[in-house]
Amino acid sequence: MSDVMDFFIEKFRKNLELKPEPSRYSSPRPYRNAMVSFRGCSIYDLEERKDILVNEAGLNPFLFRADKIPGCDLLSDSGTTTMTTEQWAAMLLGDEAYGSNEGYFMLKEQIKDTFGNSWGNGGGSAPGVNEDTFIFHQGRAAENAFFSMLSRELRKKGAVEHRPLSTELMPELKERIQSRADSIAGEGDAPYYIIPSNSHFDTTEGNVEDKGMVPLNLPCREHLENKEDFDFRGNMDLEELESLLVNEGGRVPLVYLTITNNTGGGQPVSMRNIKLVRELTAKHGVPFFFDACRFAENAWFIKNKEEGYSSVSIPDIVHEMFDNVDGFHISFKKDGLVNIGGAILFRSGTPFDKLYPDFREELTDYQIMVEGHPTYGGLAGRDLKGIVVGLRTVTRRDYLDARIGQVNRFGAKLVESGIPIVRPVGGHAVYIDVDKFFDGASHDVEFMGISLTALMLIAGHRFCELGTYAFGKFAGGQEIPPDPRVNNVRAAVPRLAYEDQDLFSAAEAMKILYDDRDRIPGVDVKYGRELKLRHFKSRFTFK
Ligand code: F0G
Repeated sequence: MSDVMDFFIEKFRKNLELKPEPSRYSSPRPYRNAMVSFRGCSIYDLEERKDILVNEAGLNPFLFRADKIPGCDLLSDSGTTTMTTEQWAAMLLGDEAYGSNEGYFMLKEQIKDTFGNSWGNGGGSAPGVNEDTFIFHQGRAAENAFFSMLSRELRKKGAVEHRPLSTELMPELKERIQSRADSIAGEGDAPYYIIPSNSHFDTTEGNVEDKGMVPLNLPCREHLENKEDFDFRGNMDLEELESLLVNEGGRVPLVYLTITNNTGGGQPVSMRNIKLVRELTAKHGVPFFFDACRFAENAWFIKNKEEGYSSVSIPDIVHEMFDNVDGFHISFKKDGLVNIGGAILFRSGTPFDKLYPDFREELTDYQIMVEGHPTYGGLAGRDLKGIVVGLRTVTRRDYLDARIGQVNRFGAKLVESGIPIVRPVGGHAVYIDVDKFFDGASHDVEFMGISLTALMLIAGHRFCELGTYAFGKFAGGQEIPPDPRVNNVRAAVPRLAYEDQDLFSAAEAMKILYDDRDRIPGVDVKYGRELKLRHFKSRFTFK
């Protein structure tokens, strides 16, 4: 008898160890539905959605009412997480004291646990402001505070001499910086400071620009060349970074890596790239920060794709990643597994601390003015407890296997239908390559990504254009496409919210559009073409 059981144990185990394939499920999800919410609308309400799309939303997905979306709402993976019962239970025990609530101390402990012992140690009774954890209500509020303080600190260092960029810079890099600086300057002085990143997210970019600095994207060559077999397309181009630091290091207050690289397709950054950026920045005495929104997903890719990490645990990989940076900001609405929250964190004794000794003191004052006391920031006490449990859950290997596996299966389903996507698939989203979708015709007909997202809404699913409309600009009477060109429609998968059936039905709707793509017209912009952050506000009609 026991032989039979052992025989099948062996067979079951072998089956689990087989490499997962899109249409094959050998293991169940590591969680089950503890509560579900029924939709108030039906997938058959196609005419109603057409009416809302045209008459209320002006073809803009941001303006389309969510309660009329019966399918997948893939507008963002941010703040759209289904929280666990453990999180809800923790939130019921929220301590709503006005200062120094219980959740704050639990969060500091969890931060040490998640990111490593050199984080989350500040505060306490030492004289002066030695707080190292600054809580905000979401990522962009943290970014705004961070760049407001940085520009204040830089101004304190004295007026800068507005000289031309060094001729020693790599020529193509110099040209890119110059044209960006010109577009920011308008009639005024050219901006002096440059903030490089593998790719800034649009809010980070907006905040950098708003403070008169140049946000500079240095995506790696493999990404620009669309190398589909390269696992770490989120990497930074080190040659360009070195050229910048060697020739214009004095203009670079800090260097960023966005992990994973959302703008570049949700692509991960390798540990090797992180360490090489650290080496370069250390050599030039320039601080190094993460935009750490999707840190756990990035760690999963290091474990599964980078040589030497397969037997290292995800929590240990996260510690190793964060050992390299002076600080980071994060939106907990992604890998914090919560619906609201963000933070800026610093490590003590780093080059950043030495360069800007008053930074934390001033940041504390600013935080109190715009969000709240450092011990709660812009959040309720209960929100802090939700984050604590979220951070504990997000580095579980079984959670990440299921999460990234699902996004990957969704991508594979689209590929199976012939739909061109950015490959390899990243951690949180699938990016449909609009230029390839229309066989290059989208270069002539502007904003085909907007057409795609509009028609998908009629099918009952919400995608997001992140391409020539979102990242392009209308200036001097003409349209300026993003450089380097990006033209994607993104399907960002909310965490723990959908099953494969939902995502596969969205893929099938996209295939219907793909099969008749020659019939899809472009759009005219009826409102907002010249506005900043225009994709949130504009209205369109089909041509
Ligand atoms: N950084 C990255 C890399 C992001 O992806 C986001 C938000 C932010 C910063 C800002 O955080 O939303 O909390 O203010 N990304 C969302 C998205 C909105 O849909 O990709 P936030």
